[in-house]
Amino acid sequence: MILALESSCDETALAVFDPTCGLVGEWVHSQIALHEVYGGVVPDLASREHLKNFGPLLHRAVAAVPAAQVTQLAVTRGPGLAACLAMGLATAKSLSLAWGVPLVGVNHLRAHAFSPFISLHAADPARFDAEMGKRLPHLGLLVSGGNTALFSIDAQRRIRLLASTLDDAAGEALDKGSKLLGLGYPGGPQVERLARTGNARAYAFPKAVAQRSSLDFSFSGLKTSLRYQLEKMPLAEVEGRRADLCASYQRAVVDALVRKTRLALERGAYRSLGLSGGVANNQLLQAELELVARKQGVVFYRALSQHTGDNAGMIAFAAWADREQGGVDASGYALEISPSLPLA
Ligand code: KG4
Repeated sequence: MILALESSCDETALAVFDPTCGLVGEWVHSQIALHEVYGGVVPDLASREHLKNFGPLLHRAVAAVPAAQVTQLAVTRGPGLAACLAMGLATAKSLSLAWGVPLVGVNHLRAHAFSPFISLHAADPARFDAEMGKRLPHLGLLVSGGNTALFSIDAQRRIRLLASTLDDAAGEALDKGSKLLGLGYPGGPQVERLARTGNARAYAFPKAVAQRSSLDFSFSGLKTSLRYQLEKMPLAEVEGRRADLCASYQRAVVDALVRKTRLALERGAYRSLGLSGGVANNQLLQAELELVARKQGVVFYRALSQHTGDNAGMIAFAAWADREQGGVDASGYALEISPSLPLA
């Protein structure tokens, strides 16, 4: 059994993964309420919260899964906030020492990349390797508040970055758009909620892509265009048209993601398409990508909502399923945090 610890940002999380049956438990303490008043995550406060919360969460975890059954420890080593990553790594090293169990460091972004496969494993743990083999090469779209990336996973489970954003991440574009529209944080869910009753064709926002032939994204022009649009409108009109503005803005973000994903699928011989990260919760994006996958004849997998944000379930799963991670440091004692670790 693998016990994983995650503390890269504002979520303190633990999870236990059993390769023979799947995730047997997940324990999370979210700090959203604490940071909300500041309009963003305050690293110093976040790391103190991790210090406070790992103990109680650990108590709950070992009450469900006795420490003697844990044969492997895993911890997020990056990317993330340095002070927060350090709390998780220090806790993991202490457990490794106390329990005499090996520790591996996991790349949080690679864990996102593998997260759509958690449900494939859960469906038939014994056949996972064979089933995953049939879905490779895989094209993945990782979309969160800090990242927007198209990547491939080849038959040896090696990850290659194909494209990323030249400026803002997709989630950031939604968060900033939401702020301009006077809505709350995080913006993605707020924009999506209002967009449901709006007309997506009401406003023509620019396409959030770099060049036509490139796979890269660019969202900053879209955000600026929303700002110009809002500056032209009296406040009362903005109030009345908020749903239309949300629907049109969301449409522009989703269109860019879908357009480039389709282009990437056309350029490679993929067998599956995956969607992960916080923006993967967006139902319009899910529906559109599912359609693209069906048209291209590839299987579509998306991370479940409990595995889209920061979570330890995907860290535990990746420690097992993503073999390249294992090579990081099997003993664990020399492990260091890596705040700017890239996906590949
Ligand atoms: O993975 P995550 O926790 O990102 C980082 O911490 O970087 O996801 C948070 C991001 C935010 O930008 C949020 O607005 C977006 O995911 N998000 C959504 C939805 N739910 C969360 N975006 C669009 N639609 C949603 N339903």
